[in-house]
Amino acid sequence: KKQLTEGLPLLGKKVLITAGPTYEAIDPVRFIGNHSSGLMGFELAKTAANFGADVYLVTGPTHLTINHDNIHVVKVVSADDMYHSAQMYYDNSDIVICAAAVADYRPKSVAEQKIKKSDETFNIALVKNKDILMTFGQHKKNQYLVGFALETENEVENAIGKLKRKNLDAIVLNSMQDKGAGFGGSTNKISFIDTNSTITTFELKTKAEVAVDIFNEIIKRRYA
Ligand code: CTP
Ligand code: CA
Repeated sequence: KKQLTEGLPLLGKKVLITAGPTYEAIDPVRFIGNHSSGLMGFELAKTAANFGADVYLVTGPTHLTINHDNIHVVKVVSADDMYHSAQMYYDNSDIVICAAAVADYRPKSVAEQKIKKSDETFNIALVKNKDILMTFGQHKKNQYLVGFALETENEVENAIGKLKRKNLDAIVLNSMQDKGAGFGGSTNKISFIDTNSTITTFELKTKAEVAVDIFNEIIKRRYA
């Protein structure tokens, strides 16, 4: 057990992580976004680098910064940008974790000029974004592929559904049951669920500690 947390268990491995929100433009000054801070993804990147991996961190807009010799940060804005950047690193990756809060939809068209107000109601037509994680699952070779799930009902059932549908090796369920868990905060309460539907549930912890737990679960299954 000692060697899981000490030493460099991911030396020579390539790890790809998506993080943060995506912003979907409405017009030159407006977007549809979400409150993801990017912190969970950044902590995963740090842990992987500390474990010896070569890390590619593809992140949507966030105030976080990271400065580590083994972490290559790729900044993106929209879901489409994130897909195109992340897929360039996918084939060569050993472990891929999609921690980004990708917008499910984007405006069907982006207005060229700032939209003027007029009527009392205003509708924006939306079209579905490509599911990056699902696409990765469909093209999986030897990557260990991990997704996240944030559910407000039937948590475990929905998470296992996503694991199967997206052809993942594991899914991290972000529990909403505890205050302090999830978006925005610095702590998280997770369950790690693998393809055998083995569920490992952890206490509420800092996202830095959660990142170590996640990589230890992955290393146990892939490299131990
Ligand atoms: N994800 C992704 N690309 C998308 C949407 C989601 O890569 N366009 C990834 C997220 O990074 C996360 C996982 O898919 O790892 C699950 O995201 P979630 O929003 O919980 O699930 P969805 O499949 O989008 O389903 P829904 O929002 O309807 O629950
Ligand atoms: Ca979604």
